[in-house]
Amino acid sequence: MDTHFTPLLLLTSVHLLLHISAHEFLLPGSALSVEDSSDMLHSPNGAFTCGFNNISHNAFVFSVWFTNTAEKTVVWSANRLQPVHSWGSKVLLDTDGGMVVKDYNGQLVWENGVYSSSNAEQAQLLDTGNLVVKGQGDIILWQSFDSPTDTLLPNQNITSSTKLVSANRLLVHGSYSFHFDDEHLLALFQDLKDTSFIYWPIPENNVWSKKGNSFRATTIGVLDSWGYFLGSDDLHFNASDWGLGVMRRLTLDYDGNLRLYSLNKPNGRWSVTWMAYLETCFVRGLCGMNGICVYTPRPACACAPGHEIIDQRDRSKGCRPKFSLSCSRKEMKFVKLPSTDFIGYDQSQYSLVSFLTCKKICLKDCSCKGFLYRDGNCYPKSFLGGGLSSPQLPGSFYLKLPKTLQVLASSIPHSQPSGPRYDPNCSVNADFLDKPESSHRGSQYLYLIYGFLSAIFCVEVIFVALGCWFILRRERKHLTGVWPAEVGYEMITNHFRRYTYTELQKATRKFKDEIGRGASGLVYKGVLRDKRAVAVKRLADIKQGEEEFQHELSVIGRIYHMNLVRV
Ligand SMILES: *[C@@H]1O[C@H](CO)[C@@H](O)[C@H](O)[C@H]1NC(C)=O
Ligand SMILES: *[C@@H]1O[C@H](CO)[C@@H](O)[C@H](O)[C@H]1NC(C)=O
Ligand SMILES: *[C@@H]1O[C@H](CO)[C@@H](O)[C@H](O)[C@H]1NC(C)=O
Ligand SMILES: *[C@@H]1O[C@H](CO)[C@@H](O)[C@H](O)[C@H]1NC(C)=O
Repeated sequence: MDTHFTPLLLLTSVHLLLHISAHEFLLPGSALSVEDSSDMLHSPNGAFTCGFNNISHNAFVFSVWFTNTAEKTVVWSANRLQPVHSWGSKVLLDTDGGMVVKDYNGQLVWENGVYSSSNAEQAQLLDTGNLVVKGQGDIILWQSFDSPTDTLLPNQNITSSTKLVSANRLLVHGSYSFHFDDEHLLALFQDLKDTSFIYWPIPENNVWSKKGNSFRATTIGVLDSWGYFLGSDDLHFNASDWGLGVMRRLTLDYDGNLRLYSLNKPNGRWSVTWMAYLETCFVRGLCGMNGICVYTPRPACACAPGHEIIDQRDRSKGCRPKFSLSCSRKEMKFVKLPSTDFIGYDQSQYSLVSFLTCKKICLKDCSCKGFLYRDGNCYPKSFLGGGLSSPQLPGSFYLKLPKTLQVLASSIPHSQPSGPRYDPNCSVNADFLDKPESSHRGSQYLYLIYGFLSAIFCVEVIFVALGCWFILRRERKHLTGVWPAEVGYEMITNHFRRYTYTELQKATRKFKDEIGRGASGLVYKGVLRDKRAVAVKRLADIKQGEEEFQHELSVIGRIYHMNLVRV
């Protein structure tokens, strides 16, 4: 009897072993496929999972995420700007340690760049959340920790060759990054088209540490298991719930703020235990043009005196003047806004001038909308953007208005003495990115979140050339005027091409011929430069632009019609 049983048992255990190994290792020559949702790697402690993650119904990104969170929290992605299709896509490990992500048609969308002369043993997800490719003798040939996306995990080094880039929205690279600057100091950068500048730590405050640091050569920073971050430039911070045994992540959020989060294990939610910017109002674009961010003590938007809200539901659209400013000096007056500034947009700076001189400078210049006067320094401004009022701000702003306009003292935006907005023991006030849980701070809060989302979002064009998609392939050969972010739209085997707002404006003759309307917006007839007719849908609701966009995509994805090629 026994002799019959043994092979059977052996078979089962071998089978079991294979089964387990398929989930803990990826062996050379094997692959993870996108269709099989169980084709994932798990870290031995179960805290992290690695595999294909859907960012929409048919777009997938090879990622590492936390296994047990209420909302999926991705910590690393291979191809975050180039998602692959929902079938036929694969991650393959080669015997030389090379790891690649391939789209359904075999197109290479990501590779780890390893070509080892010795054989690779396996790819494995470690307990730390680090995805590694190991060679013989447990040598690490490649690790995901060396190419972070927007998140740094405990014990993951940030070095001169790595950087965090804020999460992308609509598959476009974020515009904020966190890395070492050329003086070996860690900083947050805003990356614009041709330039990038530091916005945190506030450059002026940082001069002293800059001086002391210029000859330092090491560049490394790491968050330890206790929740303490230390950089070689002495940048340091400590989690408010400092201690062992907490799952943490340091994420550069899409709003440009760097936040340290801790996981509340029972409910799987994150709370903020440290953040770079305590002052929400300093975040750019929150209240739009002519808007002023004030603390009540909660951040809120107000209009500059003499201005009115453009869109009640979307404060980031800002405010418009209720007057027209003539250029005659005699008809102008200035209204003082204490502790207020419109950051940026200085026309010029005049040092050591009297208040009267400063006033004259602004009066003389028709484009001057007002000026900041601070300790003998005069800053006339031509645009009223980035407005905020905070007791911390020295100096006052003087707003140019027509003499005839009545300004009540109560209409001058000011911040209440700011209460304990950020209390390390209570992350509630700090984590305005998270969904509000209690209702009493609900609506206003939500408002800010949305205002905020749209502030970032407004910048993105939300116009979708729906009718064009089935002919796009032909057009790809002569793409002109393509934005650098074009690659972001090359989603799912490049079926998409991004048209600039101007292109669509031209094609539709400034949205002239309305040919239909849907719940989410109007559809216009247009003609592309190469004379092909298209339908252009203009999404109306900016607040939910991204959701609308994804929704439209999935609707189109599901349409079957003999005259349409499937998306
Ligand atoms: C991802 O797939 C799941 C299950 O199919 C679905 O419920 C979810 O909505 C998808 N996520 C997105 C962002 O489409
Ligand atoms: C981080 O840097 C330290 C010191 O250079 C090194 O010992 C450690 O292995 C690095 N950690 C990782 C995950 O690369
Ligand atoms: C971080 O904070 C804790 C508690 O406040 C303190 O005990 C610890 O020494 C701090 N760590 C460092 C490195 O400052
Ligand atoms: C608040 O946090 C500090 C450390 O940051 C800790 O020492 C203190 O006990 C906490 N207070 C409460 C009431 O939890």
